[in-house]
Amino acid sequence: MKVGIYGGAFDPFHKGHLSMIRGAIASGAVDQVIVIPTGMPPFKPARAASLSPYRYYMTLDALKDEPHCTVSDIEQVFGEPSYTVRTLDLLREKKIVHAKDKLYLMCGTDILFDFDSWYEPKSILEKATLLVAKRPGIPDDQVKEAVSHIESTFSTKIHFFDIKGVEVASSEIRIEENYEDDVPESVAKFIRRHDLYAHDAPLSGVSDAMYAKLIELSFRLFDELSEKRLLHSMNTAIVATRYAVRFGVNPDQCAIAGLLHDCAKELPLETQIALSAKIITEYIPGKEILHSPAGAQYAHEHFGVEDKVVLDAIQYHTVGREIMTPVEKVVYLADKLEPSRDYDDLSTIRSYAEKDLNAALIECYCAIKESFARKGKCIHEDTQKSLAYLLANRSQ
Ligand SMILES: [Fe+2]
Ligand SMILES: [Fe+2]
Repeated sequence: MKVGIYGGAFDPFHKGHLSMIRGAIASGAVDQVIVIPTGMPPFKPARAASLSPYRYYMTLDALKDEPHCTVSDIEQVFGEPSYTVRTLDLLREKKIVHAKDKLYLMCGTDILFDFDSWYEPKSILEKATLLVAKRPGIPDDQVKEAVSHIESTFSTKIHFFDIKGVEVASSEIRIEENYEDDVPESVAKFIRRHDLYAHDAPLSGVSDAMYAKLIELSFRLFDELSEKRLLHSMNTAIVATRYAVRFGVNPDQCAIAGLLHDCAKELPLETQIALSAKIITEYIPGKEILHSPAGAQYAHEHFGVEDKVVLDAIQYHTVGREIMTPVEKVVYLADKLEPSRDYDDLSTIRSYAEKDLNAALIECYCAIKESFARKGKCIHEDTQKSLAYLLANRSQ
């Protein structure tokens, strides 16, 4: 079988990428395409790049019904940077491709001009054949020159296929308002649902060290959380950072607490009970709340978080407590208001959160109280205490 390997950042996945995949299959150059969203970049990650799981799940969504095409998470690993040569080896080692399969590395003509500077180009070409998409518009003589240079330097033969000229650039989509025509419908939905390219770029508010930590943790959480929970956690981290910057709270603490706030939620119940018991010795918290203290302990033991402010924000994110720290308030709200939350009309609380942290929290508590009352239930006593405290200390 001829297998096309198509790697990229896919930030976002757009119609140009889709036409590459379809073009390669339609031309008969390959029988199947494995799409590989890049993981750890070999160079320092650009601040503008979306966290890796966003790009992976967006690509997966875009291609879920595409014939002869699979999306691989082989590069969604923390640690080693994703070099193409290593990925080609891993595809064989992990038996993602058959020993007899012939691999074709799919790329655009632009690659031809800097292929020399790739990591171990000779080794890449021993493991795969370059398969280049020929778009109309690039001068033929320049391409020919680059091709003959690579072919003679590495004793290889480059293959080509024609695709329709779909001129789309990911960088433009990230800043455009009207990107809908340039991306598959599922991608447009994904971008909207997670507010992926928010113009205020909230993560620019965290330090370089924290940015690197968030990248590391999002890879580690990829193995531990379901798609839905991980995307919710990353959204919470980003909204928490936005609120932190807005209200003068520490962005690094809010970001990491936001990312880890539900880190224990998918652990077996007995594990959650055991973790929680290390910080709450008097009783076992109810099932809905259990993951909060368990999460604080897990963030400490498993993810190495030492900062008590961060651990407390995780511990109190479900029901609050009488006197909340600013980081706790921010994480509590971000968890309830992040963009993929659509269980209710959150527009009023979100608009409070534009200007006043305490007012937003009061509004949020009151909305929960009303919704509980409609079901004949009372809110948790810690939430009641927190609400009473905020109301009593509200500035007039
Ligand atoms: Fe939670
Ligand atoms: Fe949550």
